[in-house]
Amino acid sequence: MMYRNDVPQEPAAVSRIGDSRRFALKRATDAAHTHVEGIINSAGMFASLDGYRRYLVATLAIRSRYESLLDASGAASVWPAWSGRHVAHLVAQDLDDLGVAHPAIAENADRLLNPAELLGALYVLEGSSLGARVLSRLVHAFGVSADHGARHLHAQAGDAAIWRDFLSVLDGAATPPCHATAVRVFGDFADAYARAAR
Ligand code: HEM
Repeated sequence: MMYRNDVPQEPAAVSRIGDSRRFALKRATDAAHTHVEGIINSAGMFASLDGYRRYLVATLAIRSRYESLLDASGAASVWPAWSGRHVAHLVAQDLDDLGVAHPAIAENADRLLNPAELLGALYVLEGSSLGARVLSRLVHAFGVSADHGARHLHAQAGDAAIWRDFLSVLDGAATPPCHATAVRVFGDFADAYARAAR
């Protein structure tokens, strides 16, 4: 017979007190970040305007799916600033600017996330704003800007204080973040970019 305390614990899913939850998440997802970055770079998504269009199409598909899921799961009650951090509608405007047809943003159809899973998913979506600071500069080479074609990257990159706000919520939350969820979210983004690269 197996008792509750005999159930093997998943070390990656647990943050220890005194060990910053952010850096534990970063360690748990470093390989996943390198993987998704590698797919985007190999596909030349920041090497030409055509590549960037494919990046936008894939970003809209996966980002809108996760934004709907986070809304439906109550992310704003875990992190109040979340409602101001949506960018899928701006990605859609970037595609409009560049004359690319795209589907409408869909309603959530996934299983809802619990608070630990929400924190893991929020970390990935909001953390991508750190990379957006680099990417928003790269795309100037294709003639896109904060007002035309790169609205979402500039919106993400523009507010450094909001990342610190998220980190304080992450560290103070009653439930530690679920690392497996963060890894899975990275994997879903990687799959979306890999499909758009073919
Ligand atoms: C070519 C594409 C990308 C580049 C060049 C890039 C670059 C970066 C850079 C420079 C940082 C900051 C690292 C630091 O300050 O230590 C960062 C952080 C991060 N990025 Fe990316 N990134 C890319 C794509 C993505 C994507 C697609 C996602 C999510 C789906 C993502 C999620 C994150 C997260 C969560 C962090 C925060 C890590 C931390 O805790 O410091 N990145 N990225």
